[in-house]
Amino acid sequence: MNKSIKFSSPNISLSDTKLVTQILKSGWLTHGPYTQKFENEFKKFTKSKYAITVSSCTAALHLSCIATNFKKNDEVIVPAMTHTATAHAVEYTGAKVIFADIDFNTGNLSLENIRKKISRKTKGIIVVHMAGFSSEIKKIKKFCKQKNLTLIEDCAHGLGTKSDGIHVGNFGISGCFSFYPTKQITTGEGGMLITNNKKFYMKIKKLKAFGIDKDIKDRKKQGEYDVKLLGFNYRMTDFQAALGYRQIISYKKNLKKRKEIAKLYKKQFEKFKFIKTMPYSNNCSYFVFQIFCKHRDKLLKMLKHNNIGVSVHYNTPLPKMSYYQKKYKLLKKHYKNSYKYGETNISLPVYPELKKQNINMICKKIIDFLKHEK
Ligand SMILES: Cc1ncc(COP(=O)(O)O)c(C=O)c1O
Repeated sequence: MNKSIKFSSPNISLSDTKLVTQILKSGWLTHGPYTQKFENEFKKFTKSKYAITVSSCTAALHLSCIATNFKKNDEVIVPAMTHTATAHAVEYTGAKVIFADIDFNTGNLSLENIRKKISRKTKGIIVVHMAGFSSEIKKIKKFCKQKNLTLIEDCAHGLGTKSDGIHVGNFGISGCFSFYPTKQITTGEGGMLITNNKKFYMKIKKLKAFGIDKDIKDRKKQGEYDVKLLGFNYRMTDFQAALGYRQIISYKKNLKKRKEIAKLYKKQFEKFKFIKTMPYSNNCSYFVFQIFCKHRDKLLKMLKHNNIGVSVHYNTPLPKMSYYQKKYKLLKKHYKNSYKYGETNISLPVYPELKKQNINMICKKIIDFLKHEK
């Protein structure tokens, strides 16, 4: 039996833990200095004008949908193959989710498939950068501008992803990032929203904290503030922000390693026709390394048996999920690529501590197994 290989491994150092402990001991657990420090480093990394910490990527998506004023009778286009959070964010507002099929070769929404779903009620599009590969965001942005549609970017997989030299999240009104433990950097749970629009930023800042109109430091009298909006409590704690701050600083190195790992996988798999991989891209964050093959479920079983941690992004297209299926009665024939993606993909681990011999072993197991099943 092999030594086990984890699917993900949060990159938390001893000094990160020390800093978190220090904050826990200080008693200043929220509204502290690290929230701003983390936001500032994130702005630097993504080259966005504004960054705002939130409790999750779902919260960032929800706030974006609320702040752009999606409402009942509006339609918002979302990929059929994504995490349910992308669609839920629209659904929370009362607007209607319109699923568009993905392009099987990229895992992302294509402008062609978006066009098929446009109606007079369309108000916006949420784009996902699947597995860290940028969608055709420049084209989609141009289209949104022409049609006066709001563009939101779900960058849960996209920390480090670029398109035309610009970090993703800067094309739409907002970019929403996740710091869930399997993601490239983590704060346990947590997220970040970036934007380049000051008015939008000010609104999000209020919406994330109950709709309160003044920060603690700006209040003339303790406890004196007004509430003009129906806001939420989507704040991140300061000890989480401290962890995020440390991780974003070391992420450049981490990202470089991710790309090296992706190259190793790519080199091993490209000789075999029965394993499909995406072309290597230096602009990809390599959240995971996805492969596509027949006999996917059997392969998952074999990998589990050998203690090799992998995942699937995602197994079930959203139009097949009971909630959306019951509500919108969606037919498989309209989402063929998303179904195929769901049936054939496996996400292989990518994180800096993975050694070359681990990758060679994972590849060998997969190749030998699939050669046999062919
Ligand atoms: C594409 C995508 N969007 C949104 C989310 C939700 O992120 P969070 O767990 O931070 O709310 C995820 C979570 O994995 C995701 O993969």
